[in-house]
Amino acid sequence: MRVVLLGSTGYIGQHLLSIYPDARTPRVDIADPSAVAAMLDDERPDVLINAAGKTGRPNVDWCEQHKEETLRVNVMGTLVLREACAARGIYWVHMSSGCIYAGDAGGAGFTEDDPPNFAGSYYSRTKAWSEQMLKDLSSPEGGRGGILIVRPRMPFDGTMHDRNLIRKLVRYSRVLDEPNSLTYVPDMLQAIRILVERGATGIYNMVNPGTLSPYAIMERYRDIVDPGHAFERLPVSRLGTTVTTGRSNCILSCDKLLREGIALLHVEEALESALQHMRAHAGVAEVRL
Ligand SMILES: NC(=O)c1ccc[n+]([C@@H]2O[C@H](COP(=O)([O-])OP(=O)(O)OC[C@H]3O[C@@H](n4cnc5c(N)ncnc54)[C@H](OP(=O)(O)O)[C@@H]3O)[C@@H](O)[C@H]2O)c1
Repeated sequence: MRVVLLGSTGYIGQHLLSIYPDARTPRVDIADPSAVAAMLDDERPDVLINAAGKTGRPNVDWCEQHKEETLRVNVMGTLVLREACAARGIYWVHMSSGCIYAGDAGGAGFTEDDPPNFAGSYYSRTKAWSEQMLKDLSSPEGGRGGILIVRPRMPFDGTMHDRNLIRKLVRYSRVLDEPNSLTYVPDMLQAIRILVERGATGIYNMVNPGTLSPYAIMERYRDIVDPGHAFERLPVSRLGTTVTTGRSNCILSCDKLLREGIALLHVEEALESALQHMRAHAGVAEVRL
């Protein structure tokens, strides 16, 4: 299978390279229609994976000050890829996000059919717009040119990558205490591999069963990795004192994955696995995938 991976230098892209080590990784501006068309005609992939996007540095607050760049990549780039792949009948995978929701849908968790309900940050709005456009333009039958839309949420793993959620939380002195759905990256990679093998199309919430708050994650981090780690509890009502734009706190249903026989670890078990890996590699600065 000939795979083209876009955004291969990013956090998710580097992880995807571990399951598709032979993937082609052309450097192309996804919002440039002629560059994308030339790349696809040259590479002729069986599968294109789009892990390119503007996510902001150091965080999504950046997107509030760089709306045009964010819109250009996250929305226009997605549409350019859709049109180019549709014209050539190329099956492709788009990395969307679960950060388009707020709340827990009455306790059940948001399903893939629920409309987005969080518009509190520009980044989240661009992810919701692009996903909605892909959904509206997708053929319900799937097939050639079909799109698999994957929704990770606060991805974490056991590496020292600075965009690993655990590593981000370690840098905060006050940590949010609000339950959320989370994505254990190794589980997501296996699920994507299976879905791609099946040629699956449509939206998939890519979260592990169960919920954890960032504060609870740091408590386990202190127990397992660094007993000296100090941090304070940040209730959700005080979140506005630490960030300039809104953050999505939400719980997603993973029932669709389960119905298709794709079982992810319970999030507490996944966290344990990530933290044990971190402890085993404590002091190792480089990224280990
Ligand atoms: N990490 C998360 O917390 C998270 C959660 C849910 C969903 N996602 C989604 O997953 C995707 C990847 O996220 P990430 O965390 O891996 O982001 P990241 O670390 O910021 O990486 C973004 C990637 O996109 C590339 N890129 C930026 N602008 C581009 C353009 N115009 N054309 C082509 N490539 C471009 C970057 O390349 P350069 O190196 O050249 O800049 C980089 O490879 C995004 O769509 C994001 O919304 C991420």
